[in-house]
Amino acid sequence: LIIVLDFGGQYNQLVARRVRENNVYCEIYSYKTPLEEIKKKNPKGIILTGGPDSCYLPDSATYSKELFELGVPVLGLCYGAQLMQHLLGGKVERASVREYGKIKLTVDKADSAVFENVPKESIVWMSHTDYISKLGEGFEITSHSDDCPVASYENAAKNLYGIQFHPEVLHSEYGHVMLGNFIKNVCKCECNWKMDAFVENSIKAIKEKVGNGKVLCALSGGVDSSVAAVMLSKAVGENLTCVFVDHGLLRKNEGDEVEAVFGPNGNYKLNFIRVNAADRFYSKLAGVSEPEKKRKIIGEEFIRVFEEEAKKIGKVDFLVQGTIYPDVVESGLGGESVVIKSHHNVGGLPDYVDFKEIIEPLRDLFKDEVRKAGLELGIPKHLVFRQPFPGPGLGIRIIGEVTAEKVKIVQDADAIYREEIDKAGLSQEINQYFAALTNMRSVGVMGDYRTYDYAIALRAVKTIDFMTAEAARLPWEVLEKVTNRIINEVDHVNRVLYDITSKPPGTIELE
Ligand code: XMP
Repeated sequence: LIIVLDFGGQYNQLVARRVRENNVYCEIYSYKTPLEEIKKKNPKGIILTGGPDSCYLPDSATYSKELFELGVPVLGLCYGAQLMQHLLGGKVERASVREYGKIKLTVDKADSAVFENVPKESIVWMSHTDYISKLGEGFEITSHSDDCPVASYENAAKNLYGIQFHPEVLHSEYGHVMLGNFIKNVCKCECNWKMDAFVENSIKAIKEKVGNGKVLCALSGGVDSSVAAVMLSKAVGENLTCVFVDHGLLRKNEGDEVEAVFGPNGNYKLNFIRVNAADRFYSKLAGVSEPEKKRKIIGEEFIRVFEEEAKKIGKVDFLVQGTIYPDVVESGLGGESVVIKSHHNVGGLPDYVDFKEIIEPLRDLFKDEVRKAGLELGIPKHLVFRQPFPGPGLGIRIIGEVTAEKVKIVQDADAIYREEIDKAGLSQEINQYFAALTNMRSVGVMGDYRTYDYAIALRAVKTIDFMTAEAARLPWEVLEKVTNRIINEVDHVNRVLYDITSKPPGTIELE
């Protein structure tokens, strides 16, 4: 176990993530946690994070000096590094130049345990106003930058290390190597932690926290809410109620698939409520073609439906949110939807649901880790590896007005597309792919007849972060096969287009 002692910096979750990437279990505690509690956990190492304060000011976050006398290796990052010096005889002052951004780092002590396999010069991410002007006794400088005489330091005999920059952010080229070195070379961790431990511990912690309380969860069938729901069901069983709102804008058969897994005949012990609200959504969307308006309507209606169900249940003790770490940092993957905001962000919580507390079991996990947890929990692979699906669903994959007929067209076309991509073995290579219904109708000929029908647009993109993306170069044969099948099998489609626009300037979704 590595403990991350949180002093309020913006990258603290990232520090924990980097530790876990080394297969070392890691927990984050507030700097207000008493030393006794930290000692009881018997950590192999402690990392002090950055934070917004200036350690020499009277009301700033601080910690007992005894922390450094436990014989446990300590690594201070940014504020943590300054605080360690402040407490152990060094000096921290306000710098004349604020150092912010990518900076060239020069290693002065190449044989430092933390700098193994780190070149003499590399780029690191700095963000600080205060700097360490003098080191306490027993410490030595291990690297510097142009504006920062002490970019890192150590007292190897006592296993105390400090780094002024942020090794946890990706802009620090060798940051992950340095953190890995601290974990392996200094803390001597065995690096054998796996997701099973996280899952097991989370379930235990939820059990303790919830006791006999009642828990409510909005289940969308997406990866995050599914994993959260299963975790909760393993912890509290039938004290969990999941409300699944089928807004009629899901992919083909998706509602039934979700019900098959979570419903009464499914694999889990929980109360499952499916609300078939398609007609409600369609009637609200009738005549509306402006994308933002559609998004708002879908988001609001979703909340209304959820609210009505929650009211029927009455008071609950806990509300589960499938918030994951990226939701915490930003607000979702570039989506600006009401649903994402109201469901994934603490700020946008439904305030009409009567509950005492929120549980966010995935708050510290990144998407790939959520998937790992899902597999660990035995959730079917087709749910775990589901590609992202926007909250407003097919509502934003039908350009212009949404009708039941159009939903059916796009569902059928999309199902064919997905089936063929799967058959071609491409599903893992493409990050997101779907069929959308353009609002365009054009003339065609089928048999001896003239047709005047819709055009389907196929989209397939490769992306890492969903903020930028490029169109996948799908094999021609696959496109041809999909096109033929769609035109032959889906009524009211007589043309298929492949969208090769990248993002930017396009977006991944069409609306
Ligand atoms: P765009 O279209 O903005 O999409 O390039 C980027 C990623 O975000 C997803 N997306 C959403 N997800 N609610 C969501 O939960 C939304 O309102 C929303 N809009 C877009 C989109 O599918 C893609 O993965």
